[in-house]
Amino acid sequence: MAPRYAVFGHPIAHSLSPQIHAAFGRQTGIALEYTAIDVSIDDFHAALEAFAAGGGRGANVTLPHKQLALVLCEHLSERAQRAGAVNTLVRTEAGWDGDNTDGAGFVRDLTERHGLDLRSRRTLLLGAGGAAHGVAPALIDAGIGELTIINRTPDKADALSDALGQPGRVHSRYWSDLGNQGAFDFIINATSIGRESTSFSLPYSLATPRTLAVDLSYGEAAIPFMAWARSAGCHTVVDGLGMLVEQAAESFERWHGVRPDTRPVYEQLLRKSDMLATAD
Ligand code: ATR
Repeated sequence: MAPRYAVFGHPIAHSLSPQIHAAFGRQTGIALEYTAIDVSIDDFHAALEAFAAGGGRGANVTLPHKQLALVLCEHLSERAQRAGAVNTLVRTEAGWDGDNTDGAGFVRDLTERHGLDLRSRRTLLLGAGGAAHGVAPALIDAGIGELTIINRTPDKADALSDALGQPGRVHSRYWSDLGNQGAFDFIINATSIGRESTSFSLPYSLATPRTLAVDLSYGEAAIPFMAWARSAGCHTVVDGLGMLVEQAAESFERWHGVRPDTRPVYEQLLRKSDMLATAD
């Protein structure tokens, strides 16, 4: 039987991760089974233990389990500790090793696939939930300039800002003050607004013709923010599909010791999403 891997989430039915890992396995000649496991927060721990008992060697963790996964690990990588969330689990004799590949995947997608230079960019991070925590440390490491974090619930923006430990460079502001922040070179949507609503309203004064706008979501959930960014005149508008493939490649490398080529897999998913869009 092929070694078992899985992604745990809720909901998880539409996850692209099984498809991505199957494609990486075919490409590298590594036999593996990778399934999606839908489990509620209350049942997550038990399901993870049952998975390990059944031969599970590694797992990805997505909404809403990333923070809970952190406390279930025997050992955490530095980037999981800094993100305060785990998206990749590796089974060891001692239990689970937790890692977070979201931030590295995010930066790799922008710098390598899209050829963008993130250094010194005045950056706005919208949101302070799990997705924002995943990418914020990697943004700092990528050499961005000043970072402003804005969240509907201000305490969470303050907490994320404090956790990054760079008071001169990172600060939080109120959502109601968005219009007074001037323009940004880099705007990241890490809120879940697009999963719940079809419109996204932000002041146009945040954008310039040089601005890079990135939504961490992909597919329909990314449409509202990307539509705002285009109408605000942003220079480059990117969704989270590339990040998804890159974080998967980082996880794959953790488990199998081989780095897959993400380009054909990304292009295949892009073609499929274009076909779906035109079929509507
Ligand atoms: P994820 O893992 O996708 O980050 P999450 O941890 O639930 O999911 O975080 C969702 C983020 O979207 C939070 O920053 C949330 O703001 P709050 O902390 O105030 O809840 C933000 N968000 C969700 N709906 C929003 C809305 N209608 N307006 C503004 N922000 C919203």
